[in-house]
Amino acid sequence: MITINLLEQLKSETLSNHQQLEKHLIVKLKGMKSPDDYINILQIFYAYFAALEDQINQFIGLDQLPDYAERRKTESIKNDILALNGVVPEKATAVDLPEIGSMLQAFGALYVIEGSTLGGQVISKMISKQLALDDDAGISFFKSYGEQTMAMWEKFKAVLEHHAASQKAADEITEAANETFGKFRLWMEKK
Ligand code: HEM
Repeated sequence: MITINLLEQLKSETLSNHQQLEKHLIVKLKGMKSPDDYINILQIFYAYFAALEDQINQFIGLDQLPDYAERRKTESIKNDILALNGVVPEKATAVDLPEIGSMLQAFGALYVIEGSTLGGQVISKMISKQLALDDDAGISFFKSYGEQTMAMWEKFKAVLEHHAASQKAADEITEAANETFGKFRLWMEKK
């Protein structure tokens, strides 16, 4: 019997992309001097994640991911930008996005979005420390699920595993996750 270990595969095969993206983002976060610099980071996330979420929603809904309604949405970035009196940018267009043409590819992209809630716990603390924002206004996206973050992540991983019924499926999810990471890094570099 072939054992498919999607979660290990995803983690190890996207590690290099994660590290590059993290490095890039940390430079931006450490360089923040004012709320405007933070708004700029939120705008970069909004444009890419909002467009990606639209694509994902064509293939994933409550049937594929029963707790999808409770999960963090790009709307929270929009709210954060508005709370800081920033301008909500246009969404990214197809040339800057990964190819999402199936449910499995959509799960690969959603893995990247949901996984960003883990880094979000570190990022939200960096932002609070560096910019004294009133009542932590504008940090809801990075705070994401707060104390529930690990529990939400475990639940997401269980659903993900359930959808990877073959090695071919696992490869399709992993490839889409890598493309999602890679294109996001390029998007961030352009900004
Ligand atoms: C300052 C930036 C970031 C930091 C410090 C960071 C940190 C982390 C940490 C600590 C974990 C948990 C590792 C573990 O418990 O095994 C993690 C996992 C993850 N992060 Fe990040 N992250 C950052 C940015 C991002 C961004 C921007 C994304 C996506 C756009 C992202 C996607 C992921 C994914 C998908 C995972 C799950 C890996 C897995 O276990 O399969 N991260 N990150």
